[in-house]
Amino acid sequence: MCRASRPTLEDDAQVTAPTKAGPACVALGPEHAPSLARFFARLQQSNSEEFFHPHPLTTEESIARSYYKGSDFYCVLLENSEVIGYGMLRGWDEGYAIPSLGIALDHSVRGRGYGRVLMNFLHETARKRGAAKVRLKVDSRNHPAIELYRSLGYVFEPQSGQDLVGFLDFTQKP
Ligand SMILES: CC(C)(COP(=O)(O)OP(=O)(O)OC[C@H]1O[C@@H](n2cnc3c(N)ncnc32)[C@H](O)[C@@H]1OP(=O)(O)O)[C@@H](O)C(=O)NCCC(=O)NCCS
Repeated sequence: MCRASRPTLEDDAQVTAPTKAGPACVALGPEHAPSLARFFARLQQSNSEEFFHPHPLTTEESIARSYYKGSDFYCVLLENSEVIGYGMLRGWDEGYAIPSLGIALDHSVRGRGYGRVLMNFLHETARKRGAAKVRLKVDSRNHPAIELYRSLGYVFEPQSGQDLVGFLDFTQKP
């Protein structure tokens, strides 16, 4: 196992907006905790936990993630200061060089290109932190997510079980 060098804040992707007036991706911070709790509650209401379960979607977790200080990276997509999307790169804390990516959007804003915006923001962050690849795990029934990942260049390993494991290699030319 390789230990990734500890990243600095300057290395991370800065605010990214899909349009001038549209939602923006920012690193998660304490100021987002209440809005993140509401977002987690909406994910639960829309049964999104079936495909998105990186941790329990509770108020306690929203506080823990918002106040987290470590090598992993969490971000939110904000619209009018309200969290409408959430993303992460995890594994650095545990010493892995290749981070695992995860994203979720409010049910009401899916299909507008915001998933792609969050993915690009996380890829930019991973690259700036020196990752050569990112990996992700996706349920083989989660077709919107699989389509999104394939369109961004992810290559999936032969399936064993319900989940697919995909990699995006930043060193490969598109
Ligand atoms: C997966 C998810 C983030 C996609 O977000 P999204 O906003 O719908 O995605 P976008 O609008 O950015 O779409 C990007 C691409 O995804 C694919 N896509 C999105 N919705 C799709 C759908 N309903 N069916 C098939 N493909 C779809 C398309 O390739 C699309 O590209 P296109 O617009 O050029 O055709 C969103 O559906 C979600 O939050 N799902 C619940 C949580 C989850 O499953 N997370 C992933 C866990 S691995």
